[in-house]
Amino acid sequence: MGIDTDERGAAGRALLARGGVPVVLAPMAGITNRAFRRLAREHARAATGGVATGIYVTEMITSRALVERNEETMRMIATDPDESPRSVQLYGVDPATVAAAVHLLIDEDRADHIDLNFGCPVAKVTRKGGGSALPWKRGLFRAIVSAAVTTADQTARAHGRPAVPVTVKMRKGIDPDHLTYLEAGRAAAEEGAAWVALHGRTAAQLYGGEADWDSIARLVEELEPYGVPVLGNGDVWTHVHAARMIEQTGAAGVVVGRGCLGRPWLFGQLAASFTGVEIPADPDLRAVTETMRHHASLLIEVLGPESGPRDFRKHIAWYLKGFAVRREIRQGLALVDTLDDVDDLIARIDLDQPWPGSVSEGPRGRTQPGKRVALPDGWLDDPDDLTGFLDDIRGAELSISGG
Ligand SMILES: Cc1cc2nc3c(=O)[nH]c(=O)nc-3n(C[C@H](O)[C@H](O)[C@H](O)COP(=O)(O)O)c2cc1C
Repeated sequence: MGIDTDERGAAGRALLARGGVPVVLAPMAGITNRAFRRLAREHARAATGGVATGIYVTEMITSRALVERNEETMRMIATDPDESPRSVQLYGVDPATVAAAVHLLIDEDRADHIDLNFGCPVAKVTRKGGGSALPWKRGLFRAIVSAAVTTADQTARAHGRPAVPVTVKMRKGIDPDHLTYLEAGRAAAEEGAAWVALHGRTAAQLYGGEADWDSIARLVEELEPYGVPVLGNGDVWTHVHAARMIEQTGAAGVVVGRGCLGRPWLFGQLAASFTGVEIPADPDLRAVTETMRHHASLLIEVLGPESGPRDFRKHIAWYLKGFAVRREIRQGLALVDTLDDVDDLIARIDLDQPWPGSVSEGPRGRTQPGKRVALPDGWLDDPDDLTGFLDDIRGAELSISGG
């Protein structure tokens, strides 16, 4: 057993309190860059008069790329001066490399919170035993969490700085016959994770079907004796779902991913709902295009004049979902090269359209149904046997990009 778990549970609650509302922007590769986090935070601030923001996690970075100081990785962990706490999501498969990455983040004062990703369902990663396949090998899972927590504590202490909480994000397991979340949740709590966030799907489900909120309630119960908060994740599309998830599961907070794609104002509505102030109405198309344009300008500021517009293109369909906008304008927006292009195309849209309602409030982003999970041969035979798998697992870190 690692650190005093009561203390660790308290650290998780303190971290949530620091956000002001129990809302976490789910790490999403290719989405939750500095520009998107700022945009979402601005909405939360505006809705609550600056009182509450929530917690906004970076895109996932790999521990190895960080330790090697990959240029793109260093850009991905950069935060705004007013970003607090600075939450970085780390993915790693090797305890020593994860420890080195945690050390770097804290030694160089680059993060206030480190979230460990054990949920990636992508075949090229699980095929090597990484991502959501990894918690099945329970000794390795425990060793990674332990290395991260211990290193975080030692490094912060060496600098005389406040502890940097380490949290864990996971899925229910590999498939219905190979669930890992209860055992992995207990292990994470025992090793000192400050919270455990559960996406209520197995890897086999990818993003299909409905998230199983009962599993979240079950984990809340399981971790109760440890005092470690559980955060619920999966299918929070509106503030109503967020409140319902907390009520139904007893989770200490919600982690919101796809619901905010093309809807960054959702964070304003969530923050308002949890602070008890008036919930901002959904925007009409004029306001949506203003947010879109602002998003494009932030991306250009953060990623530069070439990558910024390119990155912006993927958001168009989400922003315009449910509105009547001609096909050639949508297509044009999905090919913009400059902010002027964005302005010219928006000028051609009939902006007097109200929010389309429920058609725009359901599933969006990844929605693939599941399939059989690709795993290394013999992976499931023995959860304690890593013989012959370690080379594969290391390879799993080279081919990952979120999950
Ligand atoms: C485009 C995309 C990228 C994602 N990247 C990551 C990631 O880097 N790390 C991670 O832990 N989860 C990642 N996820 C999973 C989400 O964080 C979240 O667990 C999942 O989408 C379920 O929550 P939701 O129903 O609110 O979307 C990603 C999801 C999507 C749609």
